Amino acid sequence: MAAPIINGKQVSQEILGDIAKETAKLKEQGVQPGLAVVLVGEDPASQVYVRSKEKTCLDLGYHSEVHRLPAETSQEDLLSLVAELNAKQEVHGILVQLPLPAHMDEKAVINAIAVEKDVDGFHPINVGNLVIGDDSLLPCTPAGVIELIKRAGIDCAGKHAVVIGRSNIVGKPVSLLLQRENATVTMCHSRTANMKELCKQADILVVAIGRPKFVDASFVKPGAVVIDVGVNRLDNGKLAGDVDFESVQEVSGPITPVPGGVGPMTITMLMQNTLIAARRASGLK
Ligand code: GUN
Repeated sequence: MAAPIINGKQVSQEILGDIAKETAKLKEQGVQPGLAVVLVGEDPASQVYVRSKEKTCLDLGYHSEVHRLPAETSQEDLLSLVAELNAKQEVHGILVQLPLPAHMDEKAVINAIAVEKDVDGFHPINVGNLVIGDDSLLPCTPAGVIELIKRAGIDCAGKHAVVIGRSNIVGKPVSLLLQRENATVTMCHSRTANMKELCKQADILVVAIGRPKFVDASFVKPGAVVIDVGVNRLDNGKLAGDVDFESVQEVSGPITPVPGGVGPMTITMLMQNTLIAARRASGLK
């Protein structure tokens, strides 16, 4: 029998419903969560992501501002805008859409965002707090993965979690968060020698390698939870994850689809981070 699907779209809607209620309460206390998104250049995928963030903000009743800058904007001008947003009271979260044009220094831009407004969780201080287990704004996709696992009723404690991929945005932080949930974590990457054998030992397999349908049924222990973080555009225009869903679903336990799995959770966690940042800025719990 095919494994149950973890429906990220539905879970996202549930969480957004809770956030909308919290936002209404916060507004009664005179606080409107605010998110500023900065987009430099005209990358089509980035434009789609930014529009979707703007729409979600407006649906929730957030203050939303989108700053669209030409691709040839200087680093200095971008840093001035970030400084302006750092000081702006109605903005609680700042997101600079990546990738930035090649002439810009992404690290310098991320480092310039006020730590308490870094709703991407990319600032080195937020990353450091994640490593040492202190309170921080968590990166959205990894936080979404953990939320999906928890809401599917899966307890990570004592489980062997295997993560494929070691990026700063997904692989590394998701490994840390799984450890925080008391899983025993193995990280695999492009240079891992015996990847299939390691994956076959996983109770929970998180795949973020960026290669379409890389993981097939031969990587998966019967009944294992499979979380697919991959978003790959195929030549036929369709989206594919890093997991070969049809074959894996025949052996796995609960599994996320692409689209409709981890994807919708990323934006939801961004909204949650903005709400947390707004509460903290207003001295509320
Ligand atoms: N580009 C693609 N994903 C992301 C993200 O999560 N945050 C930012 N800032 N840029 C991105």
